[in-house]
Amino acid sequence: MLLDVKDVSLSLKREGKYSKILDQVSFHVNNGETVGIVGESGCGKSMTALSLMRLLPDKAKLDGEIRLEDELISSYSNRKMQKIRGNQASMIFQDPLTSLNPLHTVGKQIEESLLLHTSLSKQERRKRVIKLLNDVGLPRADELIDEYPHQLSGGMRQRIMIAMAMACEPKLLICDEPTTALDVTVQAQILELMNELKERTRMGIIMITHDLGVVAEVCDRVIVMYAGKVVETAPVEELFENPKHPYTKGLMQSIPKLGIRKQMLGSIAGTVPSPENMPAGCRFADRCSQAMDVCKTNVPQMTQVKKNHKTACWLYENKGVKKDAAAGSEQPKTAFYL
Ligand SMILES: Nc1ncnc2c1ncn2[C@@H]1O[C@H](COP(=O)(O)OP(=O)(O)OP(=O)(O)O)[C@@H](O)[C@H]1O
Ligand SMILES: [Mg+2]
Repeated sequence: MLLDVKDVSLSLKREGKYSKILDQVSFHVNNGETVGIVGESGCGKSMTALSLMRLLPDKAKLDGEIRLEDELISSYSNRKMQKIRGNQASMIFQDPLTSLNPLHTVGKQIEESLLLHTSLSKQERRKRVIKLLNDVGLPRADELIDEYPHQLSGGMRQRIMIAMAMACEPKLLICDEPTTALDVTVQAQILELMNELKERTRMGIIMITHDLGVVAEVCDRVIVMYAGKVVETAPVEELFENPKHPYTKGLMQSIPKLGIRKQMLGSIAGTVPSPENMPAGCRFADRCSQAMDVCKTNVPQMTQVKKNHKTACWLYENKGVKKDAAAGSEQPKTAFYL
């Protein structure tokens, strides 16, 4: 196992008080595997990634265990974590323009982590940067290396970001909405590149996205988050064919289908509860068309419903057998916009 996340909780200070942003988040990533994290805005996807990388706001309280290649990195000091970031684990963000420094050449920026984490000579670094640019499919690498970010297109900038992240051959690559800012054609090319890199390097990838199309394209396994908790996890085909949690079913229904306008896909029933106002039982109960009394008062635990498929929902307690058989035929009426 490459990454093992166990019962990770995160509290952040908001308006003078601590709020629990993540609540006992657990999942794992294997080598050569792409794991998607999906969920509506504010569910804690980015905070999960930032917790793994320890890029958290001041006064954050992080609990639980995070293991990278069997090393308990959650016990590392901030200083020791600097040696992990950009080296064993890298992260790519949504907006390449704000993440790149406009004052530095492409080459200088990619070189930075080589300077920090390797003892390569200047010449060796330049050679390596040119190879990285080639690896991420950028043309005329030997000229590009001396150009500035503003001279490049959005897709090229995102490839530069990927090259930066790949510079030290990380074991784990975390991508937070890496293609959201790109147009559809460029998005498809970047996803293809990510698939290619994964095959070549066998690294593990965490792909955070609100786009289920992206999930279908690149993910092997998916984690569905709702209001700071994991509510379902399954291999990608299984999740698409056989979603269990009413929230996941709702997400699936919100995928626009050809010929159907997005507005016609259903109504938004409520919003994600804020960390200050978490319901006592299942956090989704208020919005769930199948909610029972128990859902309002008791927190459902992750339950195995099939091999490699788990969900936290009171409909599936008792070894994965639905408690309420009638509920099985009912389609949830909720749909969500992400
Ligand atoms: N710096 C911060 N301080 C306090 N709370 C924060 C901070 N950043 C985010 N939050 C809160 O943490 C929760 C989770 O946010 P997060 O950014 O992880 O959501 P997300 O799933 O990535 O959403 P999106 O799809 O919009 O990116 C939200 O309630 C958000 O308001
Ligand atoms: Mg986010």
